[in-house]
Amino acid sequence: MLDNINILILAAGNSTRMKSSIPKMLHKLSGKFILQYVINIAKKINKKNIFIIYSNNLVKKTINDKNINWIRQIETLGTGNAIKESIKKIKNKKNKILILYGDVPLISIKTIKKLISNISNKTIKLITAKLDNPYGYGRIVRKENNVIKIVEQNNATIEELKIKEVNSGIFITDIKYLKKWIKQINLNNTKKEYLITDIIHIAYKEKFKIITVQPKNKIEIMGINNKLELYNLEKKQQKEKLKKMILSGVIIKDIKNCYIRGKIKYGKNLVIDSNVIIEGKVTLGDNITIGTGCIIKNSIIKNKCEIKPYSILEDVILYENCSIGPFTHLRPGTIINESNSIGNFVEIKDSVIKSKSKIKHLSYIGNSSIGSKVNIGAFFVTCNYDGINKSKTKIGNNVFIGSSTQIVAPIKIVDKTTIAAGTTIIENTQTPGLIYNKKIQKHKKYWKISKKTKNK
Ligand code: UD1
Ligand code: MG
Repeated sequence: MLDNINILILAAGNSTRMKSSIPKMLHKLSGKFILQYVINIAKKINKKNIFIIYSNNLVKKTINDKNINWIRQIETLGTGNAIKESIKKIKNKKNKILILYGDVPLISIKTIKKLISNISNKTIKLITAKLDNPYGYGRIVRKENNVIKIVEQNNATIEELKIKEVNSGIFITDIKYLKKWIKQINLNNTKKEYLITDIIHIAYKEKFKIITVQPKNKIEIMGINNKLELYNLEKKQQKEKLKKMILSGVIIKDIKNCYIRGKIKYGKNLVIDSNVIIEGKVTLGDNITIGTGCIIKNSIIKNKCEIKPYSILEDVILYENCSIGPFTHLRPGTIINESNSIGNFVEIKDSVIKSKSKIKHLSYIGNSSIGSKVNIGAFFVTCNYDGINKSKTKIGNNVFIGSSTQIVAPIKIVDKTTIAAGTTIIENTQTPGLIYNKKIQKHKKYWKISKKTKNK
């Protein structure tokens, strides 16, 4: 039955109301393209027969999905014209056609399944919902409870504007009838477009059954036409997501200022403080605390880790029992094994830290492998870049590194080395011991700062 359905996603148009140089479909809702939500839903119904009508090439190029049949709408003359142009390219005329709107991203698979099940002949089924504020949407006009037409905001009478039931844009019917009705749509004088919604009255006159299906949640049918609608929908979507997380056992301190822009998996006893952003694919184990102001992107964090305030983790794997932050920046390619403690103003990229090491203050570690039980003092830098090449640093186990130390890579430091404070390491160490640079400390007696010097 699902194989019988062609899916057409409307994604063309001028996006005028977005007031943006980026097409509406490529704006992001909680980190994902608006259009991608609709594509994902379509794929859950029928992977093979998905058609998208687009007008801006950037949409096709950015989504870059070869499994979709892309159709170009040359002149963006409205939803009626978009469907007319597309339907010519859809070969199997016997089938049903499901119309999805690219700018109605949160429709659920459940509601779509309700829509496409049990469709009898000579029927249009469409998704509608009652909104407290129906402004901007097409209104569902009923007579004796039967749908007789859809009237758009600009064409509605004062009485019709009071109708709360609105059109989602999403419907299913037979291709062959749709093709016939489309030819009968006239150019709308107010909008100077062909409106697909006009087919409802045509079908009604032809004694077709017009059946409406309601979503469980009203956010499913909300469209995005401008940036305020985008903002409002994202806020609503986030609120729902975070409420669900709270009910599943997570402590979230501030729903209004916490964003999950991607997919999050988590275990027991997760605590998220205010102003936290989770992006991409993030997997969290049990007993994890994320402090205020943290950003965590595409990372895996295992059990019993604490991410203290204002830390940023991107493409990182963090093993059990680690303490990160405050103000730590872990950049792509970083793997921190169990029981490590990384502190204030430490930046680590493309490096592996074995277990039970401490890097507590002000350090930069890049392209390095650091052993177990290593203690790194403040102001430690791996000098990994000579302007052209990146070089590696390898530090063994049980190494103690004093403060203000630089390591000029490529370099290897063996296990159990102690590096004195203020050392610049330029050669590999071969055996355990103390490494230091010889420095001369001078002492000038009776030193006084003159007034002039002091003011400089
Ligand atoms: C449309 C509906 C309205 C409904 C609302 C739900 C029509 C005439 N009106 O209004 O009843 O309540 O959606 O959100 O359909 N598009 C094209 N080619 C075009 C014009 C538009 O592909 O020439 C696409 C857009 O990318 C968008 C969809 O069609 O995905 C709807 O167009 P839009 O201009 O957003 O219509 P609305 O004013 O939102
Ligand atoms: Mg719209």
